Amino acid sequence: MNSRRPFVIGIAGGTGSGKSTVADAVLAAALPERVAVLPMDNYYKDQSDLPFEERIRVNYDHPAAFDLELYLAHIAQLRQGRSVEMPLYSFEEYTRLKETIRVEPAPVVVLEGILVLFDERLRELMDLRIFVDADADVRFIRRLQRDILERGRTVESVVEQYMERVRPMHLSFVEPSKRYADVIIPHGGKNSAALDMLTARIHSLLTAGGVA
Ligand code: ADP
Ligand code: C5P
Ligand code: MG
Repeated sequence: MNSRRPFVIGIAGGTGSGKSTVADAVLAAALPERVAVLPMDNYYKDQSDLPFEERIRVNYDHPAAFDLELYLAHIAQLRQGRSVEMPLYSFEEYTRLKETIRVEPAPVVVLEGILVLFDERLRELMDLRIFVDADADVRFIRRLQRDILERGRTVESVVEQYMERVRPMHLSFVEPSKRYADVIIPHGGKNSAALDMLTARIHSLLTAGGVA
């Protein structure tokens, strides 16, 4: 690790758009120690003091659901070349886990989450702002399948949460943040033409004249 500060990439987009898929592609494009990924989902506030019945009713699509101060502090630490103990989050338990995972500083830092382009302080830390775009019906179908398979949800709970909280917050906070993107990746996270361009950029950053 040299003293040059890392190149910070923000990846925003609606739920089910393919943000995590794009972040995985960036990671796969380089040696793992060259890219540090900080999903904003891991920085949901710790709700372990609330009973489960209340935790499932929290609005997880509002900016207030996130521990933004901790997220900003950890990004600052990585930018200073120091490792962080990243919290881990359980979508099944609706709260932070006791365990953390150490993230080492790296020449490329990826910030990924529905609201990473919403807050000005986060935007100012980024060298490249990406918004992953996909039609709302496609995003909803992906979310329904994923939440049932991977997040322990029922059809009824996904539909109710989507109509009550996810959709209105998307329209109020996520979609308007698209205006701050430098690059919009259409058709979700498996757009190979866009991913090829992004990974080529990462390669050039990590080699001559970049942040290697
Ligand atoms: P996000 O993190 O934005 O919610 P994910 O990356 O988890 O979205 O993608 C949601 C689901 O959709 C995953 O199962 C992923 O494999 C799938 N997916 C993402 N992009 C595409 C795409 N372009 N075509 C088909 N499936 C996709
Ligand atoms: O990966 P994705 O962008 O879909 O993750 C963000 C979504 O996770 C939000 O839309 C939020 O509704 C959902 N979420 C949830 N349950 C939690 C925390 C977040 O369904 N406990
Ligand atoms: Mg995701």
